[in-house]
Amino acid sequence: MENKLREKLPDELGESDAEEELNALAEEIKFHDLRYYNDSNPIVDDFYYDGLRRRFETIARRFPQLSVAIEIMDKVGSAPSAGFNKIIHSEPMLSLGNAFSEEEVFDFSDRVRRFLKLDQNIPLEFVSEPKIDGLSASLRYEKGEFVYGVTRGDGTAGEDITKNLLTIDDIPKKLTTQIPEILEIRGEVYMTKVAFEELNKSQEAIGKNKFSNPRNAAAGSLRQLDPLITATRSLNFFAYSWGTVSATEINTHLGFLDLFRMNGFSVNPLSKICENVEDILTSYKKVADLREQLPYEIDGMVYKVNRLDWQSRLGTVSRAPRWAIAHKFPAEQNETRLTKIDIQVGRTGVLTPVGRLKPVTVGGVTVSNVTLHNEDEIERKDIRVGDIVVVQRAGDVIPQVVSVNLKERGDDSQVFIFPKICPSCGSETLRAEGEAARKCMSGLSCSAQAVERLKHFVSKHALNIDGLGEKQIRLFWEMKLIENPGDIFRLSRHRQQLQEQQGWGARSIENLYQAIEKARQVEFDRFIYSLGIPQIGQVTAKLIAENYTNVGRWREAMIECGNGNQEAWESLINIDQIGVSVGHDLLNFFSQEKNLEILNDLNNELIIKHYEFQPALQSKMAGKTLVFTGTLTAMGRAEAKVQAERHGARVSNTISKKTDYLIAGEAAGSKATKAQQLGITILSEEEWISLLDDYSS
Ligand code: IVH
Repeated sequence: MENKLREKLPDELGESDAEEELNALAEEIKFHDLRYYNDSNPIVDDFYYDGLRRRFETIARRFPQLSVAIEIMDKVGSAPSAGFNKIIHSEPMLSLGNAFSEEEVFDFSDRVRRFLKLDQNIPLEFVSEPKIDGLSASLRYEKGEFVYGVTRGDGTAGEDITKNLLTIDDIPKKLTTQIPEILEIRGEVYMTKVAFEELNKSQEAIGKNKFSNPRNAAAGSLRQLDPLITATRSLNFFAYSWGTVSATEINTHLGFLDLFRMNGFSVNPLSKICENVEDILTSYKKVADLREQLPYEIDGMVYKVNRLDWQSRLGTVSRAPRWAIAHKFPAEQNETRLTKIDIQVGRTGVLTPVGRLKPVTVGGVTVSNVTLHNEDEIERKDIRVGDIVVVQRAGDVIPQVVSVNLKERGDDSQVFIFPKICPSCGSETLRAEGEAARKCMSGLSCSAQAVERLKHFVSKHALNIDGLGEKQIRLFWEMKLIENPGDIFRLSRHRQQLQEQQGWGARSIENLYQAIEKARQVEFDRFIYSLGIPQIGQVTAKLIAENYTNVGRWREAMIECGNGNQEAWESLINIDQIGVSVGHDLLNFFSQEKNLEILNDLNNELIIKHYEFQPALQSKMAGKTLVFTGTLTAMGRAEAKVQAERHGARVSNTISKKTDYLIAGEAAGSKATKAQQLGITILSEEEWISLLDDYSS
């Protein structure tokens, strides 16, 4: 994702350079959004991410004619990920403008008055509320019944997370008191600080990755494809806003909060009416003082004009209401001692320094590790073992060291020397010109890399082998039972050796073997992802699978590319969303003999399914575009999609004029209404299944 153009200032860019760079920036932003929203696991900090966005905006503003890029950017929110159905919000879910100082809050109030032409003597009431650091969700109730719930997504469409929301106690399933026929309630799903700490403890106990903060933990928990897992996570909900609402007499924001409360929702108890900006600032200070003691995380206050007629006159500007603003708290910081710097070696050999801290609470959450990013960062901040460091947690990022408290530094302190050899395998490391990362180049012969690669290979979205976590992989690696991924499928030859290991009963060995056998059949895209090739995440793996359809064709094409076949190379980098940089990483992987051996070995051990998209022409569904809505009873959504595709249909998430059939399960909502308006044929689940039965061969 490196881009030479970025060395130039925005002012120095010509139009074609600008277009190229905007596209590259959008791609990179999208990449990080996926890490953040889909994996709940950001890999860069706010500072870096905001820098990308700022540069994008600066360039886009300088070249307003490049509207294509701005359209790209609009889509770069958080694209709904595969796995959940997409639901279009009947009213967009807005974001908020920010104020960082008291002055900006006064400006906000002045802007509102100017817009509404209100003299200073006319009272202008606001409601101030804590800004909860979670994820927003929209809950639709029809005649008091909970119909569905959706994530914010990109603000226009989100993901159908109904089943997961049903597991949250704060969300009533039925509303009974003075409710409009249609009522969409919006608010924040969050995890308390205590629940977060507990979840991390249990994640650690089962060898799973810990979450970096309550917000990510809430996101990860809410976006579980299996609602039973969500149910085990402790989540809460505060109601603070609404979407579509049929006729109501409520005419203030506070009136809606009362309605929510009357119907059993939690409304944040610190929400209050403010008569003017002075009042607002008092409430800000009061809540800021309470912040540390609150059981949940907040990152600021939100001020909203109370009168709804004024809200509607004020309207919105670039996806944020003119009638509300978020007043952010400064990032939370605390000081503690840096006891050690460990160097971790990742799957691709990158050496990452991790600072170990004397545990300290920052914003109510215990922090004992910080990422120190890379050797330049350590040098720039002159971070040394033994230093008292200022640690910061800002919103969604992994805690960082902001600075060193030099007054506390002892005379014997020593500059940290970043190791030049790999701490895991002892081989030389290399830092390519212009790159921040130092890498161990010995690939799979480096045990840290090999173990990381194996961990990735068996992880949930790859081969998904239960019972094979970090601990077991490390053990089998040390016992020399597993060196390459293919060895996993030959583990059954070592039953005797395993039985002799402490803690391995016959039953657990049997379970492990069964899980391994189950994993032998694997979808092509999962297989590609499991190889752990740099930049090949789940989405890219799927694109590759779609294009090459089976492992043989893919391997051949990649080898052709390596042999300089221009046509093969062009067709690779022209795949939507795959560019030169991803192309090079693929070629690099295929150029290594060892990787080809691993691939061949796996091809022998596994049954790698061909990517399926085979229209059955005799089916009535062939060539049709289908949309599913509501709950299906005979099969899950995922299966329904596979069935539809097997019969030659395409499945889309959104209704448009191009839709041929809407298949409406139970509790079908707005999609059914839209389909009716567009004159699209609506089939019940049974009708649809009978059509499949009639024609399946
Ligand atoms: S009002 C138009 N109120 O902050 C109304 N948002 O930065 C939009 N948030 O997406 C939201 N607490 O996820 C509102 N009391 C509160 C909030 C709140 C947290 C979040 C919400 C929103 C984001 C905007």
